[in-house]
Amino acid sequence: MSERLLRLLSERQGEYVSGEAISKQLQVSRTAVWKQIRKLQEKGYRFEASPRLGYRLLEAPAHLEPEEIMSKLSTKRLGRRIERLEAVPSTQDIAHQLAAEGAPEGTLVLAEQQLKGRGRMGRGWVSPRGKGIWMSLVLRPRLALPFAPQLTLLTAVALCRSLRRMSGAEIGIKWPNDLLIDGKKISGILLESTAEEERIRYVIAGIGISVNLEADDYPDELLQRAVSLRMATGRSYDRTALIVEFLDELEQLYDLFAQEGFAPIRSLWEALSVSLHRPATLTTPQGVLTGVPVGLAESGALLVRLGDGEVRAVFSAEMGASSSGR
Ligand code: BTN
Repeated sequence: MSERLLRLLSERQGEYVSGEAISKQLQVSRTAVWKQIRKLQEKGYRFEASPRLGYRLLEAPAHLEPEEIMSKLSTKRLGRRIERLEAVPSTQDIAHQLAAEGAPEGTLVLAEQQLKGRGRMGRGWVSPRGKGIWMSLVLRPRLALPFAPQLTLLTAVALCRSLRRMSGAEIGIKWPNDLLIDGKKISGILLESTAEEERIRYVIAGIGISVNLEADDYPDELLQRAVSLRMATGRSYDRTALIVEFLDELEQLYDLFAQEGFAPIRSLWEALSVSLHRPATLTTPQGVLTGVPVGLAESGALLVRLGDGEVRAVFSAEMGASSSGR
């Protein structure tokens, strides 16, 4: 009920809603409304209450609140269960545990801080308290394991589109799934899959968005390659709004993918990519390749035109000399 109450009050954008109107709409007693208001106050929400006019929402807490996120979401599955934690080693571990215990698709684990956030290729991920979005999402796609890269690309497209809309910044995707502003990384995605006989049981999509970090939140050596949305655009962002926009977008693309396959996602990815048609060095598990990436294969692999004209599909690699982020 607190989720519906919040939805109602935030839709009125700081205007009063009478206790009677609330109790009618939510079909609960006025005492129950008052009790929920008290509960939300304990969580850090600030309301103004007037005996004549009712209640109005003044301020949401600075920390992330599952109810608030859920009250703003338009999704059917993604983010319908949210576990919010204060500080954890990595949200990935918690999400793995929940998924193994049967958590439904769309379960989201959020932490204010990660003490051992992890990135691709065994790297770490800087995750200071309250400054970014550090989250892991449980997905249960009907997909054979070799097609898991498609999901990585889909997630990058959803993240890029939603962050572009919210910030107005020119954000591009560096293959496979780093988001960059002016060549610096603002966000990374780490997909970890568990499979049984080549079929995916579940995927944990780990997403890190450097939202309101400042320069001194980063170790010096990262500052040349990493940036936050705030540093890049000069203003800070409401993390809840970014999460909601992303989950809404991701569910739409995820449904499109289920209905129409990878082709529409591939076109969207190619349009947002900053990695195509520029010479690149790719360090693959089989060795180093140089060539020009020309597009994506149906499988999600990167198609690279080599010096002799051969077009090679690359499934996993590090792109550029030392560039893939953090
Ligand atoms: C990368 O670009 O290397 C991937 C970074 C992924 C970071 C996120 S933050 C939330 C989730 N928990 C982790 O430990 N990692 C992912």
